[in-house]
Amino acid sequence: MHDTLLLFGATGDLAQRYLFPSLLHLLRDRLLPPTFRVVAVGRTGLDDADFGQWLRERLDDGDGRDADVLDDLLARTRYLSLDLNDPEAMRTALSQYADRPSVSYLSTPPDLFVPACRGLKAAGLLEGQSRLVLEKPIGRDLASACAINATLGSALDESRIFRIDHYLGKAPVQNLLALRFGNTLMEAVWQHRWIASVDILVAETAGIDGREGYYANYGALRDMVQNHMLQLLALVAMEPPSELSANTVRDEKTKVLRALRPMTARDVAIDSVRGRYDTGVVEGEAVNGFTHDSDVETFVALRAYIDNWRWAGVPFRLVTGKRMPSRTTEVVVSFKPVSHWVFERPDRERARPNRLRMRLQPEETIELGLMGSLAAPEWGATELQPMSLDLSMSSTPARRIAHERLLVDALKGDQTLFVRDDEVEAAWGWIDSVSSAWQEAATPVHDYPAGSWGPAPASDFLPVTLSTRGQRKQGGKQTGKPAA
Ligand code: BG6
Repeated sequence: MHDTLLLFGATGDLAQRYLFPSLLHLLRDRLLPPTFRVVAVGRTGLDDADFGQWLRERLDDGDGRDADVLDDLLARTRYLSLDLNDPEAMRTALSQYADRPSVSYLSTPPDLFVPACRGLKAAGLLEGQSRLVLEKPIGRDLASACAINATLGSALDESRIFRIDHYLGKAPVQNLLALRFGNTLMEAVWQHRWIASVDILVAETAGIDGREGYYANYGALRDMVQNHMLQLLALVAMEPPSELSANTVRDEKTKVLRALRPMTARDVAIDSVRGRYDTGVVEGEAVNGFTHDSDVETFVALRAYIDNWRWAGVPFRLVTGKRMPSRTTEVVVSFKPVSHWVFERPDRERARPNRLRMRLQPEETIELGLMGSLAAPEWGATELQPMSLDLSMSSTPARRIAHERLLVDALKGDQTLFVRDDEVEAAWGWIDSVSSAWQEAATPVHDYPAGSWGPAPASDFLPVTLSTRGQRKQGGKQTGKPAA
């Protein structure tokens, strides 16, 4: 395990909210090597003591529980103020850390990846066994992602490049692999013959607040679908890997992403909805709308198709939005109706198909929706009712920050939960097809009130498991009560 972490963007939002807290937890649980050291690099002109104080204010939870660990982390941390566009300054300041293999973590805007890489190379920090970790977004489209990948590839080998998608560090996301490949029952039905549709929903109550500049250039399609949602889709749809190794898993995910059917201007009119939140009320609080002077969406709904043998004809509905009524991440697999219906009640049309609902956030639950009969039907005939089988673990272990697992894996050199160059490019290829189709079709961005489930035309894309006023129609009828 490498023991030197150079953290670029050390005073940024991600570092203070997730990266340093992750390091604190890992140190507390003795998951880092005894000689572990951090070189924190930021733009702000601070000395070690100022930075230590700044960090202490953010990490100290006030109850003194982790006070010793916090002191320990600060003692292992040095701060440097550097301009990443200046390779000579980087060489001078950083070459002293090239004495042993290190991990350089770029938690910076993507336009700094290429210059930072030059500086790191000049400082000798990309040589030998040293590794490079990059936060998303890797580019803004296929061309820019390819350009970044090419520069990275000329500086170090792909086996030492770790592209983060923090969703892959979430335990419930990894559980998708466990559920799929650890169960014969799933294997038998996991294909178009038995599955009618798949819903992937990532709804957030948070708004754009404070990230307007970045967001206005990306929108929900590039910020959420290109990475987190397509990773969830790939895990649901991939073929079984022959082993759980970095390249076999990533080979299978990449094949799925390449098989996504590109969207045309005609498709987006039917298979997509864009929205942007207006003023409204979220969790009882009045909030402002997103009023930036650009036409980006804060909500997107897409119907995607994977053109391969397993998934032919199965719609994958992807929905994500900011300022939704609740924070909900879930994958819902809806099965086809039974081939021949023999019951009077309910009639065939009203019989609810089986459904596997995996909730990933905020709580982690797995439910299987089945049909069963009432124990003693008073009117003397069998009447079926929907039943919900709770497959959740009785006590879920306390969840770690997704970045904890990813930091350990990067220090150890395990790439399984990181995104490979061809994978990121395959995802951008499909995203580009959607954004150019939107452009060609002049797809409108509908306003929706903050605190709602998106614009009205998106109601057909929402999973039937959501309890909302405007639910997706099922079999031509509005669904009634939320399903189990
Ligand atoms: C980030 C996006 O990658 O993921 C944010 O840039 C989004 O816009 C966040 O809010 C969601 O992550 P999580 O872990 O809170 O679901």
